[in-house]
Order: sequence, then C-alpha cells, then structure tokens
Amino acid sequence: MFHTLTISDIRRETPDSVAISFDVPEELREAFAYKPGQYLTLRAEVNGEDIRRSYSIASAPGAALTVGVKRVADGAFSTFAQALEKGGELAVMPPEGRFICHEESNIVLIAAGSGITPMVAIAADALARGAKVTLVYGNRQTGSIMFRDALDSLKDRYLDRFTLVHILSREAQDVPLLNGRVTGEKITQLAQAGAVDLDGADGIFLCGPGEMIDDVAATLETRGVARNRVHFERFYQNGEVPRAPKSAAAEAAAKSGVAVTVVLDGTTRTFDMEAEDDTVLDAAHREGLELPFSCKGGMCCTCRCKVAEGSAEMAVNYSLEPWELEAGFILACQTRPTSEKLTLDFDAA
Ligand code: FES
Repeated sequence: MFHTLTISDIRRETPDSVAISFDVPEELREAFAYKPGQYLTLRAEVNGEDIRRSYSIASAPGAALTVGVKRVADGAFSTFAQALEKGGELAVMPPEGRFICHEESNIVLIAAGSGITPMVAIAADALARGAKVTLVYGNRQTGSIMFRDALDSLKDRYLDRFTLVHILSREAQDVPLLNGRVTGEKITQLAQAGAVDLDGADGIFLCGPGEMIDDVAATLETRGVARNRVHFERFYQNGEVPRAPKSAAAEAAAKSGVAVTVVLDGTTRTFDMEAEDDTVLDAAHREGLELPFSCKGGMCCTCRCKVAEGSAEMAVNYSLEPWELEAGFILACQTRPTSEKLTLDFDAA
C-alpha cells in the first residue's frame, strides 16, 4: 500500500511551511496518477511512533508530484517534515480523495491557510482546460501566503480568466473589503461587490479549517446555492476532532463484547472488540491487524468499508456522502458497533 519515494525537491514556502516534491519511478506512474484535489498519505516513524498524515497534492498532473506541509502546533509529522531534505525518502500511499474538480467551466475556490494546497492544483488544471477560476484566499499576512509564486504565475498566464482575491487578517490592505477573515459574511460582501460570482459558478470548492467551511457553507445554503455545486475538504489545525458520545446501543455492545470480522484484500480475519477499544480501527490495531487509515478523524475516507453484517454507528463523519451511508458504507476509524457481531468489508467498491 505504501511505496518508498525519493524527495526530488523541497522548497520553503513560508517560515512554517514547505513544498515537498517526489520522484515517481516509471513503474509507479500509473499507481500515482491523480486528479487535482486529491491527497497523498505520508508515513514516517517520528519519536518511535508510526505516524501517517494526509496532505493535498499542489501540483497539476504532469508536473512534479508535490504536497504542501504547514507546521501546526504540536504536529509531530508537520514538524518532522520541515527538516526533510532533497534526496531523502518517505513512505507514500498512492493518491486518494474525492475533493475533485471535474468538467466545471466556472469555478469559485475559497481557501484559508494551508487549505490552498489542493486549490493550486485545481486552479492550474481548470485554467489549462479553459475554465474561469476565482480564488478567494485568506491568510494572516503576506508572509504566510503559501504557493504565492505559483499563484502569481497563474495570474500572469491567465489574466483574463483567473481572479485572485487575497484576504488578510493581520495586515491592512488598501481596500477594506479585503481585510479580515474568510467567513460567510465576507463571501457575501465579495459577491455583492461583484468580485465573486456565486450564482454563475458551476462548482464552489472550500478548503481550510472546519469553522471556516461550516460558516461559508451555511451562507451558501442560505443563498440557495445547490448543495451538489458545493464541495469541501476540511482541515483540523490541532488534529482534535469533536466526537459524538456513544449511543446506549454502542455502550451495551461494548460492554458485552463484539466479534468483529474484516474482509480485506480477499482475506477474512475475526477478532474480539473489547470495552477499551473506542473504534474498530483501535481494536484491529491492538490485534496487530493492519487496516487502511490516515487521518483517523473521519475526514479522508482512507478507512472506508461496508457493513456486511450487523450494525454500527460513527463518532464523526466528514467525508461519506449521503448515498454512501444509505448503501451501508462506514469509516472504520469512527466505527462503534451497535450489535454483537459486525462484519466490515474493505473490498466492497
Ligand atoms: S482514517 Fe481518515 S476517515 Fe478514517
């Protein structure tokens, strides 16, 4: 699942972020083909701990495979990544993710902080195929703008189709509208000023911290923007995701013990889930069974599987769509059984 890739380049984007590019050998080209908006999961042993983190791909297909990593407070991997060097190696999982721009011809991208990473790839790709792109990008100050050179060069190249709006919260700009944070209210003001075409856009993409996404998404909903035109990818800065408490049924199942069966790559394994295990992923880990995962926060979908027998609930879900829930898909990293037996099928499409 993980492949060892060589770091072909590493560039400092801002004082606390780097762009890491990888060499993809010929034999892995197909496995590492991706769509703009997808992410890579990187894996490393940091201070004796096996850590995985997902980072969005910032390069358009055809360019060197690149991710942006911003250091977050107490972020073990993001701190470790700042010291990586060209020529070094990292374990990397092939691209995944469904935050993808398809054939939209007029897109609005709204990002804050390191949420810019997938937007660079989406913008570059959409502009190259003739789409109109508006990017609203929030930062504290000019010095914290990631991929500034890449954005400027897109602006130079596609002057007539690319609108770039920088919003800064800790540095005053001449136009008052451009000061502050990216919020639903700010987006409404930009739309009223004619800087953002929310009604004409056939795709609106949001990426950044959860509270920014929730606020802007609520505003879009109030304005009557169709839900299927809005796509989001959330980042939790502190790695902590608010989790729902267990239901009475999950508590009861945890107390009586649950026989969990997992089907992965055609192999079936059964183990007991114990009261100390919060999720199926935790229980599998305790059993020494390697299930696919990355964020462990319900955001990336790497642990997606299907309930083939029994029932379960999730602590949080930020990535499965309503149709997937309806079809019985679940996130193993959030799965708490509510029945005495539970079978999860990781091979289900
Ligand atoms: S590991 Fe990311 S959603 Fe479960």
